Amino acid sequence: MKYNKIFLSIAAVLFTFYISMHNIKAEELKYNKGDNMNNSEKRIFDFNSKTVLLNSGYYMPVLGLGTYSLHGDECYNAVLYFLKSGGRLIDTASFYKNEEEVGRAVRDSGIKRSEIFVITKLYPNQFSNAEQAVEQALKKLNIEYIDMMLLHHPGKDDIKAYKVIEKYIKAGKIKSVGLSNWYIKELESFLPKVDIMPALVQNEIHPYYQENDVIPYIQNLGIVVQGWYPLGGRGYTKELLNNKVITDIAKVHNVSAAQVILRWNLQKNVVVIPGSSNQKHIKENLDLFGFQLSNEEMEKIKSLDRNEKHDWY
Ligand SMILES: NC(=O)c1ccc[n+]([C@@H]2O[C@H](COP(=O)([O-])OP(=O)(O)OC[C@H]3O[C@@H](n4cnc5c(N)ncnc54)[C@H](OP(=O)(O)O)[C@@H]3O)[C@@H](O)[C@H]2O)c1
Repeated sequence: MKYNKIFLSIAAVLFTFYISMHNIKAEELKYNKGDNMNNSEKRIFDFNSKTVLLNSGYYMPVLGLGTYSLHGDECYNAVLYFLKSGGRLIDTASFYKNEEEVGRAVRDSGIKRSEIFVITKLYPNQFSNAEQAVEQALKKLNIEYIDMMLLHHPGKDDIKAYKVIEKYIKAGKIKSVGLSNWYIKELESFLPKVDIMPALVQNEIHPYYQENDVIPYIQNLGIVVQGWYPLGGRGYTKELLNNKVITDIAKVHNVSAAQVILRWNLQKNVVVIPGSSNQKHIKENLDLFGFQLSNEEMEKIKSLDRNEKHDWY
C-alpha cells in the first residue's frame, strides 16, 4: 500500500512535468517556422463577427480607420468617435507621428483593450535600431501591447528589424507581424529568411490600382491582405467617388460610392482602412454589412483597373 502511494506520487510528478514541458513546446511551436509557415489556407472573412482569423491565431476586424495625416485633437477625436461607433481596428505608424493620440483615444474609449486591434509600423530609417524603435512605439501608444507591427517599406536591415519584432512576439509585447508595400518579388526573397510567417500585407489597393495578380498570391500563402488608399487617397477621391460605374451601383443599393468601393474590397477578402475625421463619413464607412454586391457588379468594378498607382511605393 505504502509503495503504491509512493509510486502514484512519482507518477503524478512525472506527469505534471511532462505536461508542463509539452505546454512549453506547444507555446514555442506557435512561433516556430514549421507551425504558421505551413498554415497557408486562405483566410476567409466572417461577415457576422466582421473579423478574420490571422495565421498568428488572433482575430482581426476586417474594417478599420486609417490615421495617416490625422494629428492632435483631430486624430484623437476621430479615433474616439470611430471606437464609440463600433469600429475596432486602427492603423497608425511611427511615420504618421500620431501614436500618442491614437493610444490616448484607445485608453479613453473605455472599451476593453482586448477588443481593440492596433496596427503600427516601423519606418525604414528605424530598421537598424529596431529594438529602440519598438520600445518607443510601445511607450507612445501606451496600450500594454501592440496587436500588429508592420515594416512600412522594404529597406536596408528589414530582415534584422523583422527578427527584432519576432523577439517581441515571443515576449508577448507584440501579437502579430506583417509587411507593407511588399509585392511578389519582395516576398519571394524575404519569406525564406524569416521564422514567423507575416500575418498581414498592407498595400495600395483601389479600383484604379487593383493588384489582381498580387492579392491572390499573398492570400494563397495564408496571409491577409489589407488595402491602403481604399478611396484612392487624399487628392484622388473626388474622381474615384464620381466614377459612373460606381455611382450607378451605389444608386441600386441606396448607399454611397465610398461604401460600394469598401464593400467591393471586403468581398475580395481585402481589409479596408479608410482615413477620415468626418463623423458622417466614419459612420458611413462602418456601415457595409447591410448590402451585397452581385458577381456582375464585382466584375464591373474590376473592369475599372488602370494600374494607376497614387503613391510612389
Ligand atoms: N502602408 C502604407 O504605406 C500606407 C500609405 C498610405 C496610407 N496608408 C494607410 O491607409 C489609410 C487610408 O489612406 P488615406 O486616408 O490616405 O486615403 P483614403 O482612405 O483612400 O481616402 C481618405 C480621404 O477620403 C475621404 N473620405 C473618407 N471616407 C469618405 C466617405 N465615406 N465619403 C467621402 N469621402 C470620404 C477623407 O476625407 P474626410 O476626412 O473628409 O472624410 C479623406 O480625404 C491611411 O490613413 C493609412 O492608415 C498606409
